[in-house]
Amino acid sequence: MNRTVYLNGCYLPESEASISIFDRGFLMADAVYEVTPVLSGNLIELDGHLQRLQLSLDALELPNPLAISDWRQLHRQLVDINHLVDGLIYLQVTRGAAADRDFIFPDSTHTSPTVVAFTQSKPGLANNPLAETGMKIISLDDLRWGRCDIKTTQLLYPALAKRLARKAGADDAWLVRDGTITEGTSNNAYILKDGKLITRYTENAILSGVTRATVLRLAAEAGIPIEERPFTLQEALSADEAFLTSASTFIMPVVEINGQPIGTGKPGPQTRHLRARYLAACRASMS
Ligand code: PDD
Repeated sequence: MNRTVYLNGCYLPESEASISIFDRGFLMADAVYEVTPVLSGNLIELDGHLQRLQLSLDALELPNPLAISDWRQLHRQLVDINHLVDGLIYLQVTRGAAADRDFIFPDSTHTSPTVVAFTQSKPGLANNPLAETGMKIISLDDLRWGRCDIKTTQLLYPALAKRLARKAGADDAWLVRDGTITEGTSNNAYILKDGKLITRYTENAILSGVTRATVLRLAAEAGIPIEERPFTLQEALSADEAFLTSASTFIMPVVEINGQPIGTGKPGPQTRHLRARYLAACRASMS
């Protein structure tokens, strides 16, 4: 690939972008990130992602290296330079490279953060065939740390969980902690039962999804009753419908968990309706 990427104030070919081996993002996953979708060249929910970036930075006592207007311009510029039609913008802020490896946070007056951003082209992002067939999920123990509300780059367990899901012939995994489903490896989890939408409330055990917030607003506007509470694997298995949300998948039906069909085993009507509403809201925000 021959992308133009952003690194610490410069736009340069991806082959020329490099960072120090002492960067704390590399050594300690001392870094946060965001992923913003792009549809037809338009940034979707960018402000929500920038607000959450601020929360993640604050939680790790990392100063925000850019003003909101600079972040917006950076995103717009990457889309334009790379002629991105459908895809994602990935951004990462690390605590930067101190003089040596050390657990102690370096003095932020002497160590500047590393800022990286790049495009990922995903043609037809909103027409993913999985939206028609639905996703197969397995459940796994949630072995992540206790601050999943911070969007850090510590993604080894989610990567391992996705690998285990693939090995089991599934598309992804939902994670179970203390008897209830927290969320997916890289998405928020929902079930529908007797017309009610059930999803965990936001707390340290899950990431407060930007897509989640919009989906809950759209569901409320559509008159769907919402229960924000943890739900068990057993409840999910006996649900009428299930789905997940993220910036890279929007709303995806879940039709099978641990080899057992959910509802009819096909994407359900409420899930389809919410996906259509969500994508319509995205398109409306572009005009
Ligand atoms: N992941 N939960 C986790 C653990 C996530 O990693 C994500 C997003 C979400 C959904 O959040 P949002 O709706 O704001 O994308 C929930 C992104 C897409 C990723 O890591 O690529």
